[in-house]
Amino acid sequence: MSRLGGEKVEVLLSEAQLAARIAELGARISADYAGQPLTLVGVLKGSFMFLADLARAIDLPLKVDFIGTTSYQGTKSSGVVRITNDLSRPIDGEHILLVEDIVDTGLTMQYLLENLATRHPASVKVCALLEKPARAKVQVPIAYKGFSIPDEFVIGYGLDWDGRFRNLPFLGVVKP
Ligand code: XMP
Ligand code: MG
Repeated sequence: MSRLGGEKVEVLLSEAQLAARIAELGARISADYAGQPLTLVGVLKGSFMFLADLARAIDLPLKVDFIGTTSYQGTKSSGVVRITNDLSRPIDGEHILLVEDIVDTGLTMQYLLENLATRHPASVKVCALLEKPARAKVQVPIAYKGFSIPDEFVIGYGLDWDGRFRNLPFLGVVKP
C-alpha cells in the first residue's frame, strides 16, 4: 500500500472500530452538552482526523478552534510542553472540550488544562481518542476516552512518526 511507503504496519484499531467508538462518544457528548455553548479545541496536529470525525458525530451547534503544542522529539516525549499555535480567540464563558489524539505521560494535557483554566472558560474537559495507561506520569481526568492501548508507538489516523503516516485511515503499529 503506497500510503505506507514500504513500511510494515500492523492494524491496531480498524476504520470500523474507530468509527463505532466515535459515534458513541459523539452521542454522549451531544447529551451532556445539550443547551450549552460548546467549543471543541483540537490539539494539533495529531487530533485533526479524530476531531473531524468527532465533530460530525456531535449533534449540537458548536465551535471549533485549535491549539498547537509540542513536547516530542522523534518518538520520545521531552517532557517540556510548549504552545506553538495559540487559540484564535478568547474562550471566557464557553464550555471547552479539549480534543486530543493520545494521552501518553499526561504532561501535555496537564499543562493545557492549567493554561486554559486561566482564561475563565465555563468548563474544560478532555476527550482523548487514546490513552496509554502504562506511561502515565501524571493523572489527567479524561471525561471521554476512546480506547486504552498498550505501550507501543502508534501511527495513523492523525498520528505520525516524524511527520509521516498521518493519512492512514486506521491506527497502526510499525513493525521492524
Ligand atoms: P504526553 O506525554 O504529553 O504526550 O501525554 C502527548 C502527545 O505525545 C504524542 N504521542 C504520540 N504520537 N504516536 C504518536 O504519533 C504515539 O504513540 C504517541 N504517544 C504520544 C501525541 O502527539 C500527544 O499529543
Ligand atoms: Mg498530539
